[in-house]
Amino acid sequence: MSSKIKIPKKGEEIRIGSNLDLDIPNHPIIPFISGDGIGIDITPSMQAVIDHTVKKAYGETKKIEWMEVFAGHKATEVYNKNTWLPDETINALKKYIISIKGPLATPVGGGIRSLNVALRQKLDLYVCLRPINYFSGVPSPLKNPEKTNMVIFRENTEDIYAGIEWEAKSKEVNQLLSKLDQFDVIDKVRFPDSCALGIKVVSKEGSQRLIRRAIEYAISHNSKSVTLVHKGNIMKYTEGGFKKWGYELAEKEFSAIKNNSGEYVLSNGLVIKDCIADAFLQEILLKPEDHDVVATLNLNGDYISDALAAQVGGIGISPGANISDSTAIFEATHGTAPTIAGKNIANPSSLILSAHMMLEHMNWIEAANILHGSFRKTLEKRQMTADFASQIKDCKALSTKDFAIALIANIKKGS
Ligand code: NAI
Repeated sequence: MSSKIKIPKKGEEIRIGSNLDLDIPNHPIIPFISGDGIGIDITPSMQAVIDHTVKKAYGETKKIEWMEVFAGHKATEVYNKNTWLPDETINALKKYIISIKGPLATPVGGGIRSLNVALRQKLDLYVCLRPINYFSGVPSPLKNPEKTNMVIFRENTEDIYAGIEWEAKSKEVNQLLSKLDQFDVIDKVRFPDSCALGIKVVSKEGSQRLIRRAIEYAISHNSKSVTLVHKGNIMKYTEGGFKKWGYELAEKEFSAIKNNSGEYVLSNGLVIKDCIADAFLQEILLKPEDHDVVATLNLNGDYISDALAAQVGGIGISPGANISDSTAIFEATHGTAPTIAGKNIANPSSLILSAHMMLEHMNWIEAANILHGSFRKTLEKRQMTADFASQIKDCKALSTKDFAIALIANIKKGS
């Protein structure tokens, strides 16, 4: 099949060195997946805002060369009706190293659980990175939302999310039940005749590579603490292993020393501590200022990221990225919002702030700072899309495009 991807003529490839350092050219090719549903509303707005930001920061010297690659419904139109995630797309995401994507609908039938999960597994994107910051003016259910300021590192490839599970009464479940009988634990299965079974996979290697990234991030950002969030009081070997291996790593690789409270402290003062997941969900409401960088397992991370996002305005404004040792895909954290798709009313903030993370990852810090300043100013001026404006008295909602135009105007004014 001939290629459906048009490579931008002036673009150059991002390279990665053997020490994993990035070499970013002035005209990097960045693949993008427009996304399903509101993807068609938010992606062009994100690109317009980023192009203006980069121009403001670097004039004509630097420019992102966008390259469309296809996944989801658009892939079924461009390739054929059964191709949701073409190999060509996977290969491009790998080859060009840094990319960005809108939301993708989960195909109904066809044996695909989720395109997002498939992407994470195929590219071994083991870090799901979710910064949680509050922008003044954004409606929040909290009295002091500005106290919530965290960065979540969620393990993305293991846990009960690995997709190893079988339907009740299937032959695999029957075989596993007979194994459990051999292990003398069958009486722990309350209703063996009607149970489905899933397997929770948590490894030392998988846990430590995630926790290592969290500690490195905390060191480079002068953070006060890394909290390992787990449910090891009940799941002693899987979630308890995550905690144990985390502390072992802190000791061995970062020379952390255990203090009297059972926490581990690095020579620069960074504290590595842990918290049981249910207690953590209380703490993020009652004492969010006590937590800074968070490292956690896949399922806990899923719940915690959305709970924290809600504290600062919801998934409409929460950015994210999925990262391996080499590849990074920045993405809107919300779904396709089908009921508002194509209406030019969706909030593009999640995708634009994901692009902000991308600029930081590329070390285009001047551009990242300009965008952040404009974002703050725009929201402080109560220039907002309907999801936020509807919660504020006498605040007139902007369309998706008009919100992007407001951001661009505030960039031009030199915010
Ligand atoms: P959703 O995030 O699409 O929508 C949840 C609610 O938030 C809806 O009321 C929606 O209108 C609103 N919403 C979401 N994003 C918004 C935005 N940017 N501006 C304004 N309002 C927004 O979640 P839902 O309904 O559970 O999923 C819909 C589809 O999206 C499903 O096929 C699901 O599998 C997929 N999905 C994809 C994700 C991804 O690609 N990363 C993540 C979550 C869901």
